[in-house]
Amino acid sequence: MTSDTFTFHILTLFPEIFDSVFSQSIIKRAIGKKIVKINLINPREYATDKHKSVDDKPYGGGMGMVMRPDIVIKALESISTNSYKLLLCASGQKYTQKTAQKLKSKREIVLICGHYEGVDARVEKYVDEVISVGDFVMTGGEIPAMAIVDSITRLLPGVITEGSTKSESFSPVSSLQFPVSSLLEYPQYTRPESFRGQKVPKVLLSGDHKKIEQWRKKESLKRTKKFRPDLLR
Ligand SMILES: C[S@@+](CC[C@H](N)C(=O)[O-])C[C@H]1O[C@@H](n2cnc3c(N)ncnc32)[C@H](O)[C@@H]1O
Repeated sequence: MTSDTFTFHILTLFPEIFDSVFSQSIIKRAIGKKIVKINLINPREYATDKHKSVDDKPYGGGMGMVMRPDIVIKALESISTNSYKLLLCASGQKYTQKTAQKLKSKREIVLICGHYEGVDARVEKYVDEVISVGDFVMTGGEIPAMAIVDSITRLLPGVITEGSTKSESFSPVSSLQFPVSSLLEYPQYTRPESFRGQKVPKVLLSGDHKKIEQWRKKESLKRTKKFRPDLLR
């Protein structure tokens, strides 16, 4: 590990889930180059009873089991206090590209993955942010944690080709006459030039970089209007 290594500490009852995702492609290379480090911590190791239980029934009644705060916090306190702490929760604040941009400047992040009916609400006092990856409910915080690790890792220097994240979807936009938080990326094409009757737009074959840039801006706007008009408001 170098002093610049970005560390993700992941608190999870299912550490094996991460093996395949983090041992492939760009994340694997980033780990190999010591740009990122993944530290998996299983809260079950901090359980004290003979069954190693980590959850219990909800007070007030209701379905399912809730992860106990004493166990989760013991696991959290086993990690360096300098870390920026995130609790993954369907009812948290929505994670966006802007959040990823902000978090890439932290050097150490903790991601707490809930499971079952979630985590006891008192854990929120011990974290910096409560984060949701979207308006849907998953069975656990493991896949949301992978999404966050992936989206931050690709923004770190040396992970993917410099400049290639600049004009992507959700990047900030400054060159339009009206205020827009961000746009979706323009459509991309590769070979073959003609596929089942669909041709690559002529301008992309013209070699005229100014015209290509103008076309891409227009298409970006068109796509945003079609799929994400909320970004234009
Ligand atoms: C089944 S969910 C609990 C859902 C909770 N009862 C609710 O209605 O909001 C179990 C765990 O999955 C994770 N999770 C589910 N959906 C998520 C989302 N959209 N974003 C982040 N984490 C999520 C959280 O860690 C949560 O504690």
